[in-house]
Amino acid sequence: MRVKEILQRTKSNYRRDGELILSHLMGISVSQLPLYFEEEVPEEIRNKFFELLDERKRGKPVAYIIGEWECMGRVFKVKEGVLIPRPETEILIEKTLELIPLDKEQVGFELGSGSGCISVNLLVERPKLRMWTVDINVKAVEITKENAKLHNVSDRLTVLHGYAFEPVKGMKFDFIVSNPPYIPERYWSKLAEEVKIEGYTSLIGGKKGYEFYELIAGESDEFLKPKGFIALEIGHDQGEIVRAIFESKGFNVIVFKDYANYDRVIVAKKWN
Ligand SMILES: C[S@@+](CC[C@H](N)C(=O)[O-])C[C@H]1O[C@@H](n2cnc3c(N)ncnc32)[C@H](O)[C@@H]1O
Repeated sequence: MRVKEILQRTKSNYRRDGELILSHLMGISVSQLPLYFEEEVPEEIRNKFFELLDERKRGKPVAYIIGEWECMGRVFKVKEGVLIPRPETEILIEKTLELIPLDKEQVGFELGSGSGCISVNLLVERPKLRMWTVDINVKAVEITKENAKLHNVSDRLTVLHGYAFEPVKGMKFDFIVSNPPYIPERYWSKLAEEVKIEGYTSLIGGKKGYEFYELIAGESDEFLKPKGFIALEIGHDQGEIVRAIFESKGFNVIVFKDYANYDRVIVAKKWN
């Protein structure tokens, strides 16, 4: 059976997933797949393809099936229990990069590294930068280290396991970046099973949902250098509350929208 015949057998709502799984099994990039449409697919790969497609149909995210996902055009390893990078997080990375000079040695802190997609992308784009990350999930710590190796930035990244700022007590950073869990806990039971696989601690921010923003604002005096900045991803309806949290601590705040015109990123800066 040829590539195009296998894909034709894949129902239209799983077509993209099918393309991702097949290109992964064939060891080629999904964008190159059309070049291989006439290629005969060995039986072993064909059988594996239909087995993995069934896993997808049973609700496993395709990123976990192929074990990787793209962020800023770079491939990141992912595994169950670690958040799959979202397109919205690229806005956070871009807004953060705008504030990190290319020619200065700076040190940043990331709370909740997950796959490492934020810190690793920042480090690749800013060769003089060093980053420290903390995650409470051991799996996330391991995979952040793996992704740092994959992208050759391990020598500038310190990956720690622990709760929020505790592992970096006594340190001061030029900036703090985070895509913290921000969903209120009452929504957990309503989330789709294929989202829940990403893990409670990846997603749930507490009773109100915005507890991590209060925590970061509360710790900023201790961990942020004077004139430092904070860049955070936020829930689509959290712009005003998160703005108020940081303004009450004396920060100047900008809220940025995502592609769907929802509030998605805030940047906060203090001048003293
Ligand atoms: C929304 S995910 C973001 C992951 C990744 N930075 C990204 O943008 O794809 C939040 C991350 O924060 C971590 N986390 C949750 N509570 C934490 C805590 N108290 N201290 C440190 N990390 C925490 C989770 O394990 C998870 O990896």
